[in-house]
Amino acid sequence: MTESAPKAKYRSDYQSPSHTITDVNLTFDLHETQTRVTAISQVKQMANETTLTLDGEGIELVQISVNGQVWQDYAQTDTGLAIHNLPEEFELAIENIISPSTNTALEGLYISDGAYCTQCEAEGFRRITYFLDRPDVLAKYTTKVIADKESFPYLLSNGNKIEEGQLENGKHFVAWEDPHPKPSYLFALVAGDFDVLRDKYTTRSGRDVALEIFVDKGNLDRANHAMVSLINSMKWDEERFGLEYDLDIYMIVAVDFFNMGAMENKGLNVFNSKFVLANDQTATDTDYLGIEAVIGHEYFHNWTGNRVTCRDWFQLSLKEGLTVFRDQEFSSDLGSRSVNRINNVRIIRGPQFAEDASPMSHPIRPDKVIEMNNFYTLTVYEKGSEVIRMMHTLLGEDKFQAGMKLYFERHDGTAATCENFVAAMEDASGIDLNQFRLWYSQSGTPTVSVTEQYDEAAYTYTLSVKQTTPATQDQAEKQALHIPFDVELYDEQGKVFELQRNGELCGNVLNITESEQSFVFENISSKPVPSMLREFSAPVRLNFEYSDEQLAFLMIHARNDFAKWDAGQMLLAKYIKSNVEAVQKGANVELPELVVDAFRGVVLNSELEPAFIAEALSLPSFNEVAGWYETVDVDAVCDVLKGIKLALASELQDEMSALYHTLAQADYTIEHAAIGKRSLRNLCLQYLVNVPEYAHLAKDQYQSANNMTDTIAAMSAANSASLTFREEIMSDYSEKWSHDGLVMDKWFALQGANPSKDALVNVKACMSHKAFSLSNPNRTRSLIGSFLNMNPRRFHDKSGKGYQFAGEILTQLNESNPQVASRLIDPLLKLKKYDSERQALITLELEKLKGLDNLAKDLFEKVTKALES
Ligand code: TRP
Ligand code: ZN
Repeated sequence: MTESAPKAKYRSDYQSPSHTITDVNLTFDLHETQTRVTAISQVKQMANETTLTLDGEGIELVQISVNGQVWQDYAQTDTGLAIHNLPEEFELAIENIISPSTNTALEGLYISDGAYCTQCEAEGFRRITYFLDRPDVLAKYTTKVIADKESFPYLLSNGNKIEEGQLENGKHFVAWEDPHPKPSYLFALVAGDFDVLRDKYTTRSGRDVALEIFVDKGNLDRANHAMVSLINSMKWDEERFGLEYDLDIYMIVAVDFFNMGAMENKGLNVFNSKFVLANDQTATDTDYLGIEAVIGHEYFHNWTGNRVTCRDWFQLSLKEGLTVFRDQEFSSDLGSRSVNRINNVRIIRGPQFAEDASPMSHPIRPDKVIEMNNFYTLTVYEKGSEVIRMMHTLLGEDKFQAGMKLYFERHDGTAATCENFVAAMEDASGIDLNQFRLWYSQSGTPTVSVTEQYDEAAYTYTLSVKQTTPATQDQAEKQALHIPFDVELYDEQGKVFELQRNGELCGNVLNITESEQSFVFENISSKPVPSMLREFSAPVRLNFEYSDEQLAFLMIHARNDFAKWDAGQMLLAKYIKSNVEAVQKGANVELPELVVDAFRGVVLNSELEPAFIAEALSLPSFNEVAGWYETVDVDAVCDVLKGIKLALASELQDEMSALYHTLAQADYTIEHAAIGKRSLRNLCLQYLVNVPEYAHLAKDQYQSANNMTDTIAAMSAANSASLTFREEIMSDYSEKWSHDGLVMDKWFALQGANPSKDALVNVKACMSHKAFSLSNPNRTRSLIGSFLNMNPRRFHDKSGKGYQFAGEILTQLNESNPQVASRLIDPLLKLKKYDSERQALITLELEKLKGLDNLAKDLFEKVTKALES
């Protein structure tokens, strides 16, 4: 860095704004390189301050007027504008120029495939005009958009359309008014030519809402599932949370160039096309479920995010944790609760725990931020949702809903804090959440270690619990948390004991509040098998010395699917760990009969949902396993995961082949039962192709598949087992789909995860594929992201070539799109997980990045933290 290092902001420094803006009137005269923006704001002094300091970045100022008079008393700064000697209340008019076509960062106003669109969260509005670009300044917006009528027939912004008309030179205009005051990050504008899918929804109280989904021309047949998901979201939020939509129109625009998943702009959501477009020939079941979840997520933000927004960005989890909780509940109410829970828990135990252990560790409510975009993290979103879920567990649904109601009564139409939310939950329920609040300020992953003691004379069973949270890079000292710990005890027949403590019946959820604590259960007539941390009742690691027999017992007898699955995962974990040690000593991977039989029992159990069986037979990811070690032996862990897969495949081939054939379906439907059958059948395929006589199944399935789920499953099986016909089917797919980037993303992702020795050479070759472009974040994440995250053996190759490649790509992206670069760098931050040679090679790349003279704040923040680790 040649210029001065970027400065951090601290949560504790929050100050309310010196001024507020009550109304804004925006005019956009769109042009590729010379878009003219006029912003007329009604401004009011809030403190005794005659200077107004506005944020602005990379924009060209034309003129400032105050109360209709040209104003010269101002200074331009690095970060915006300081306007001096202002009256108490005034009208401020600012005219400036921006260049959307050269905006490759995709923040502010930019062009995606010929259409203008905006992305303002978190701090993108300041790239559109000079403004108080902070979430606690709420204004009413009217927006007039002017553009050429033929190229841009649709001109959209937030709220309701109030005016439209014809202008000279083939131009036209549309004006929009949003009656709900909102912060600038929820502003949106879109201009382009689209196909539109229209529908309508009548709310519980009788408001008619027009629903419109805008997609690129020719994609109308891929918008139906998004529309169904939107209607289901609106219905669900009324039924479960009693919340209704509050405008007469709800628009969604799908764009191909987008940094994240989607954005909840008021009345005008902008979506990554990945989370809108689907039909059975182009999208997998996973894509369909992802669309449902993201459409729901953005819709639910209308209350949790928009009606009640965040006071400052440190409070991001107020809207994101809560909205993720809501979208998870939505998916669970519509589909399989246990499968949803399993997948959410995999994310916490894998990448979120890894984030806690990394140089970027932070509490769900961060204390220190250099670049806000770096804090849209698994911790803020997914752990944030777990924190909401723990409150739900402690309060129960009714009291939790009472808390939501009070939260809206108190804070609707305002910018609130995480503390406001907890206080509402506490006040509405009468439950003390004082110690619980620590989850907002303490980072890291707690470990709960449990030992048991059975007294057969007294009929008592004692669980002794210790909690510790290891120090994290951001925080050395840790305190004891309030951990809801859901427990059940089983007798030998698999019947549950009624839980009784101190002579009284008690519920399943124990309150762990001390560093060390014992729970004595009475009237336990035989030594029980404990099922603990049921439903993953807290985001912690559980330590308990289960015997193989106890785990096999829980896989059969636990009363809920999640606990069955979790017992299976613990059994696998034992043998992954022991086999890693064995492999390091030169031995082969082996699984005892008990383990194989436990999984055989799951495969053969016709009472279990197919979707659940598929989850039970899925091994933990490399990344999750890596999290169990201080230093991870990349090759040994890869060998063991592969070895266990081969062992189970060879032992269970008869059962799996039978299932593979009976689960075949003639027609494709996206009902949950049909999705479940496909997922189990394709899981069987993944195992079976490792047995030579079954390898052909992947090719047969590729050729006969009538839907994308089965096509990709076949390709993925061929890819991960490096089958002889891999090349053949990969090139067949690429010929068929090379015109469609979104469909090619699945192919790029397989190329990135290709386990073969020449994977890196291939990945580099793929960068010249006509469907690839480093300027498109979806393409980049599919190819490069999957190589960095899903291909441990090749990315971490001892030669250092994988790291060098990452360094080169990051150097390019640092200039074109720092946000995408900053997400891609995450695996390099975890250098301490690897041996000293690999650490040295990664350090070299990080040092090179640090030395760039135009290093963006985004990478600066992460690179410096990683080098300090
Ligand atoms: N608020 C969005 C969501 O969670 C996240 C988001 C979309 C975002 N685009 C972004 C965050 C760009 C930062 C930058 O639904
Ligand atoms: Zn969100």
